Amino acid sequence: MAAIAEDLTPYGGVEADAAWRDEVRRLARQRDAVLLAHNYQLPEIQDIADHTGDSLALSRIAAASEASTIVFCGVHFMAETAKILSPHKTVLIPDARAGCSLADSIDADQLRAWKAEHPGAVVVSYVNTTAEVKAETDICCTSSNAVDVVASIPADREVLFLPDQFLGAHVRRETGRDNLHVWAGECHVHAGINGPELAARAAAEPDADLFVHPECGCATSALYLAGEGVVPAEQVKILSTGDMVTEARATHAKTVLVATEVGMLHQLRRAAPEVDFRAVNDRASCRYMKMITPAALLRSLREGADEVHVDPMVAERARGAVRRMIEIGKPGGGE
Ligand code: 13P
Ligand code: SF4
Repeated sequence: MAAIAEDLTPYGGVEADAAWRDEVRRLARQRDAVLLAHNYQLPEIQDIADHTGDSLALSRIAAASEASTIVFCGVHFMAETAKILSPHKTVLIPDARAGCSLADSIDADQLRAWKAEHPGAVVVSYVNTTAEVKAETDICCTSSNAVDVVASIPADREVLFLPDQFLGAHVRRETGRDNLHVWAGECHVHAGINGPELAARAAAEPDADLFVHPECGCATSALYLAGEGVVPAEQVKILSTGDMVTEARATHAKTVLVATEVGMLHQLRRAAPEVDFRAVNDRASCRYMKMITPAALLRSLREGADEVHVDPMVAERARGAVRRMIEIGKPGGGE
């Protein structure tokens, strides 16, 4: 292990070899830690984790785990959500700088001002938000259960949906609600996967399935292509990252065009090695997700860092909204 220790400049090159895997497993046992990895993590991080999945599945696993420490290989709001659900557990993120441009698109002051404009509205926040925003929220959701969450709200109540405009448009379309107001936020990675690019790829691969994350700028375009008959409707699937893995096992297509962050391809190829999965935009890589390197994970387990703290008063106010999120919607999305 000496080689690993010498290599451990802050987040520098550590090889994810057998020695690294053994050391990570040994340290995780020593800390009584469960390792969780989001589907956008580097392949070596996904492979060493105890559980890999989408944000809803990982929140549920974190809440149910008996381990005293959760090491969340994902972005900061995910680790914060685990801390809100399990305040007595130690929650570590291998690099606390791993943020999220979508979560940064609204803060608690902005949400309070929006609520003041719509008194009595139900606030539904995507899990990609800070703990302070969750504390101002009635129900959180993820891409996997956003439609179910909004459908659970009486039809005559106004809904404020935040912060992702593309997911909001998808939910409005699916629920048919015109009293759903959507915040104009976006994720820089998904917004960069655009409609014209998808249309060109779909035209070149007419038999391919399209797996599209609802945060993508191209989600509307994918449905438009289906509506116009350019791509048969049954080939267009708007899915959370966990549902993409389930669908990969079920598809009869030889080729699938994948419109989301490129880390997703690893789990899809593992789930269905016979299918040719291709990224719609192979530059769609989330730099925050990629901050969780093999070196960062090793440092995290060695030093017990970076520990995630949420102000107990904020966590108390956010907990109800997060608990409602994990109760609504189908099981699955991770393993
Ligand atoms: P999922 O909820 O589909 O895992 O997506 C999380 C996310 O951050 C998307 O960018
Ligand atoms: Fe946030 Fe976008 Fe990265 Fe997901 S892909 S963590 S929404 S910045």
